[in-house]
Amino acid sequence: MSTSEIGLIGLGTMGAMLSLNIAEKGFAISVYNRTAEKVDAFMADAGPLAERITPTKTLQDLVASIAKPRAIILMVPEGEPVDQQIAALRPLLDDEDLIIDAGNANFHDTNSRAAAAVAAGVPYLGIGVSGGEEGARHGPSIMGGGDQDNWTRVYPILEAISAKYNGQACATWMGPGGAGHFVKTVHNGIEYADMQLIAEAYGVMRDGLGMSATDCGAVFDRWNQGPLKSYLTEISGEVSKAVDPQTGAAMLDVILDRAGQKGTGRWTVIESQQVGAPVPVIEAAVASRNMSADLETRKAGEALFGAAPQPLPAGAMTLDALEAALIAGKIMCYAQGFALLAKAGENYGWDLPMPAVAEVWREGCIIRSSMLNDMAEALTQDAARNLMFAPYFATLLNTHQSALRHVVGTAVAHGLPVPALSSALGYFDTMRTGRSTANMIQAQRDFFGAHSFERIDASGAHHGPWGSNA
Ligand code: 6PG
Repeated sequence: MSTSEIGLIGLGTMGAMLSLNIAEKGFAISVYNRTAEKVDAFMADAGPLAERITPTKTLQDLVASIAKPRAIILMVPEGEPVDQQIAALRPLLDDEDLIIDAGNANFHDTNSRAAAAVAAGVPYLGIGVSGGEEGARHGPSIMGGGDQDNWTRVYPILEAISAKYNGQACATWMGPGGAGHFVKTVHNGIEYADMQLIAEAYGVMRDGLGMSATDCGAVFDRWNQGPLKSYLTEISGEVSKAVDPQTGAAMLDVILDRAGQKGTGRWTVIESQQVGAPVPVIEAAVASRNMSADLETRKAGEALFGAAPQPLPAGAMTLDALEAALIAGKIMCYAQGFALLAKAGENYGWDLPMPAVAEVWREGCIIRSSMLNDMAEALTQDAARNLMFAPYFATLLNTHQSALRHVVGTAVAHGLPVPALSSALGYFDTMRTGRSTANMIQAQRDFFGAHSFERIDASGAHHGPWGSNA
């Protein structure tokens, strides 16, 4: 019987949780997984929700079980598996059946797949889904991309399953083609940077102030009551206080300091370079993950040069200063992320709804935080303005910039690595330097390549009195 309102392929963690969420909101759903045992295991764990879920073991059965016009969500690993899945599925579908890629696709791939779908006259959506396992199960943040009519078609389901902020659904159409996946990519870039900033604050507390993981946890808990209130601050408190059941030690102390990554942070940085919208705090975060992976070289470095981090002298830094530095760093990282969204939006001809991006991130996603509501307000006032210039954030930066400078300066003087906080400070200072040093770059370029420069006192292209012109 073709009764399911939607189908889902890929019962990995995110796909399974999303399916349960859809069923829980009252929609009949059919599910399929390449390895059939996963379907059985999923059904066995579905409990009472199983009555709204149709398990299928072949793509043909999946398609046959869904009411027309069909909508099928793909939750498979990004890249080749998505293309393979589309190639296997499309011939079984009618022309009006909609495929929705809800994985962490590279938005360039989504652009190509959307263009191929348009050429074939079939509907396609690429949507970014954030919130991890818990979010997928109980309410993710959803960033949609593709033809708006197709988005509207499935919106009732997406709205129902999404997170709510004061009753407002965190499910928004961002634009055509890969716009939704692009917004999700930048979300992840900010996620990397926010995590790195927190990790640096933890490093200052652990190595500089000699604090235990539990004590760090108490500080994160306290910070989570103030301007830094966010999911990432909250879970940093949780993980800091957790105890390893095997050893009884603090969990953080037995976790290897080698960070993994699936690539979305890197995509954000690559794109920022492509469109010329600098995101140095995110770059520092991606670089730090890469450096963390090279454990052996770091160990050799410590043996050769001596360990970098030194304890801070008593009274050298307060936790209040560290909190203030983190607030300033966080503003800079978000300002960069939103500036990238604005620039890429122009570049790709997307009219990205900037305030709505901040709004869709207020609940459900990994970077949800109280600051995002203030960002949504600032972007509503002026969507094109860099967030650090919005009066609310400019005031915060004026209040906290000296703490950022003090924390970075003190950390640097004592060998405590703070690359993301330093980048934030470098960005802040660069962005308030009316006369930069790029005149030297221009002179050098003209000297070795006759690339010409502009003058401060005359229009047009000029050359300097060097080389053959001297
Ligand atoms: C989310 C997350 C998620 C991401 C993981 C791991 O919004 O739910 O961004 O999509 O895949 O956080 O990412 P890395 O492995 O790259 O750290």
